[in-house]
Order: sequence, then structure tokens, then C-alpha cells
Amino acid sequence: MKITVAGTGYVGLVTGVCLAEIGNKVTCYDIDEQKVQKMRQGIVPIYEPGLEELMKKNIAEERLFFTTDAKTAYESADVIYIAVGTPENEDGSANLTYVEEAALAISHYVKKDTIVVIKSTVPVGTNDRIQALINEHKLPGIEITVVSNPEFLREGSAVYDMFHGDRIVIGANDERAASIIAEINKPFGIPIIQTDIRSAEMIKYAANAFLATKISFINEIANICEKVGANIDDVAYGIGQDKRIGPHFLKAGIGYGGSCFPKDTKALMQIAGNVHYQFDLLESVIKVNNKQQLLLYTKAKEIFSSLRGKRVAVLGLAFKPNTDDIREAASLVLIQKLLNEQAEVTVYDPVAMENAKSVLGDSVRYARSAISALAGQEVVFIVTEWDEIKDIPLSTYVDEMKEPIIFDGRNCYDLKEVEKYPITYISVGRRNII
Ligand code: UGA
Repeated sequence: MKITVAGTGYVGLVTGVCLAEIGNKVTCYDIDEQKVQKMRQGIVPIYEPGLEELMKKNIAEERLFFTTDAKTAYESADVIYIAVGTPENEDGSANLTYVEEAALAISHYVKKDTIVVIKSTVPVGTNDRIQALINEHKLPGIEITVVSNPEFLREGSAVYDMFHGDRIVIGANDERAASIIAEINKPFGIPIIQTDIRSAEMIKYAANAFLATKISFINEIANICEKVGANIDDVAYGIGQDKRIGPHFLKAGIGYGGSCFPKDTKALMQIAGNVHYQFDLLESVIKVNNKQQLLLYTKAKEIFSSLRGKRVAVLGLAFKPNTDDIREAASLVLIQKLLNEQAEVTVYDPVAMENAKSVLGDSVRYARSAISALAGQEVVFIVTEWDEIKDIPLSTYVDEMKEPIIFDGRNCYDLKEVEKYPITYISVGRRNII
């Protein structure tokens, strides 16, 4: 199949590379000339484990191409994936400008029957609207059929997920188009679910909202555990063994971040609101998450009357391990609070330092390693559970800091181990060690 992918963000690029890997001839289209130049040389613009090797391999084997020319990209493609961004509008709704622009360009350049697959996360009803927009602007006599194919990739394991995901959802009102897209996806060896277009759009939002709900739920339980003297790790394990609940996504911490859950939960609130439905549960999930992102700061304030002039280290900036993405990261919420209190903040992350610099500028000090971030500090906040951070021996905190006080937002250490050291240790949903 000759496939074009419009948009080379994390979804578009991973999709394009993996579609090439299973044997398609894929052209990735983006308007950013510099980025396209780099990608042609096999330089990946994001941090995503496994992507670079696969990208270089498929470029070398002449199945993967990059262009900034819309005509070349769209004119002779059999299938066009739209994977452009849907950023958040001020009111929380999804901004569809880029999706609409892509649809108009496709209508303008496509000269034969083509299937347009919408990968971008779009509010329910958008695929139908894009179909209508295309119908209005396309050349007469050709068929351009829109199919919804939401993505469920996790940043940091996106390549793995392409080949090992739980399901592929294909939403179409046209049986023929659906079966062509199903055929393209067959080599991934993942169960395929076919639905109508609106159900596919809804599956994406419902899945992310449900996962966000699980996180806010376990975080609330963690907060209660602290007050009643229970241990959240044991409680999460105990409930997770019930197959109806399942063991995943029950890790208490400092809330969910990233480019998906915060945006998609708010967008689903909008979708519900537009049809005059008050989604009370999801509203609470969002509220709980906002509270939870402040948890380490709130705990610190319970211990110190003032953080002014305190030397503090923040370990981990990415919204989760194995990514350089700091969008909506709990680290930023915490750091802002610390800076407002005039603490002296040193930060470290294994890969997100450059992204952090573009947001935090010179308001913080950037350490070269986790160990050097700890040297001479009074307080450390553990924000992201990178292996490199989880593996720091507890003795290192004692060696590097005077009298270590650790606020661990990801429960990286075993309480019994911590007790062996002269460390003040405050974690989530577990007893404090003081
Ligand atoms: C999420 C979904 O997991 C993907 O299925 C979906 O495709 C993607 O959004 C998207 O819509 O594009 P992602 O944002 O990459 O993927 O990251 P997750 O691994 O889901 O983690 C999200 C946040 O939840 C992180 O901040 C993480 O620290 C937090 N989390 C996750 C917890 O606090 N506890 C958990 O048990 C799990």
C-alpha cells in the first residue's frame, strides 16, 4: 500500500515508521522543513525508545520517505493518515484547525479514490464533519472515505505498543473502507474491533477518561490510607488481584500528566457539556488530579513553615519515565510552587533537561547527574520514577545531603529499607518515616 501520514508528531511518526516496517511504502508529510530534513537523515525529533533504529532501517530499505510538499504527499496515496495535533483551546475543547487544514489540502490534491484515516484524537462527530468538508471540496467523480482509527500508544513504549497493543479500533460507516484498513493492520497481529465512526471516536475518550479515573481513585484511596494508617502499595496489590479490577494503573503518586489524559479528560467534559450532560464523575477525577499534583508541595508545607532559601533538588522532570515530554508534568507544578516560595531549586532528569530549559530558563540550576543534584541539598523531591532515580542507593542520599529529607512522589523505596538509614522519608499513601 502507498500510505501518507500527515503530521510527524509522536503519533504520526511512530505510526508512519511502523507502517513502513510491516511492508508499506510510507511518506511522512510535515510543514516543518528543518524537521523533515533531519528525519530524512534518520534523526528522530522526539525521545522514543526503539524508534530511531526502525526509522533508519526503513529509510535505508526505501520504504520510508519524508516531504514538505503536500502535492507529492497526497496526490497518489492509497491511504492518508491524519495525525496532526489537536491542542487544547482555552475552554478545554480540542482545537481542530490542523485537522481541518489537512482535510482541505487532501481534498485539493487527491485525484483518485482514497481513504482518509483520522488518527488524531477528535471530539465525537468530527470524522463525520471532516467527511462532509472533504465531500464539499474534493474533485467530482472520486470517492474520499473517512475512517476513524484512534491510537492507544503510550509515550515511551509507543513502538512496542504498535506491535503488542491490546486492540486496534476501526470506526467506519463504509464496510469496504473498514476492511481495507483492517487488512493494512493485520500484520501487527493485534485483535481488530470494527465499529461505527462515532463509537470509535468515543472509545478513545472513554479509554483515557477511565484510565485517568483509575489513577485519581487510587490517589484518593492513598490519601485516606495515610490518615487511617494503611499502606497504599498493599491495598493496590490487594484490590488488583480481583480480575474485575485488574492490577494495572493502580500506582498511587502525584497525579497524571502528559499530553493526553489532562487534555482528553477536559475535552470529554466539553463533549458531554455540549449535549447538556453533566459528567460529575469526570469532573471530580480532574479536580482530584489537580489536588494530587500539589501533594508533595502540600506535604512539604506541613513540615516547613517556610521554604525560602531552602536548597532543594527535584529528581525527574518528565511526566513519566522513558520520555522527554514535560507537558502537564507534575514537576512543573511543584517547581513553580517552590520558586514562588523562593527556594533554591536544582533539577535533574535523564532526558528531559533540554525541554525543561525551554520552560524554566535560568530560574533553576541544572545538575549533570542525579548524584550531583543531591550534593549539599537539604530536601529532595522525587517526581519521576526513572530506573536511574529508583536505583540511587539510599546511602547516597546520606552521603551527599547533610540530613536527608526525601519527599517521594512515586514510592520508589521500600519503607523497611529506608528505616535502616538516618533519612526523613515522606511518600504517598504510606506512613511517614521521621
Ligand atoms: C496515555 C494512554 O495510556 C495511552 O493508551 C494513550 O494512547 C495516550 O495516553 C494518548 O491518548 O495518546 P501516556 O500519556 O503516554 O498514554 O502515558 P501513561 O503511561 O498512560 O501515563 C499517563 C500518566 O499517568 C503519567 O503521568 C503517569 O505517571 C500516570 N500514572 C499512570 C499514574 O500516576 N499511575 C498509574 O498507575 C499509571
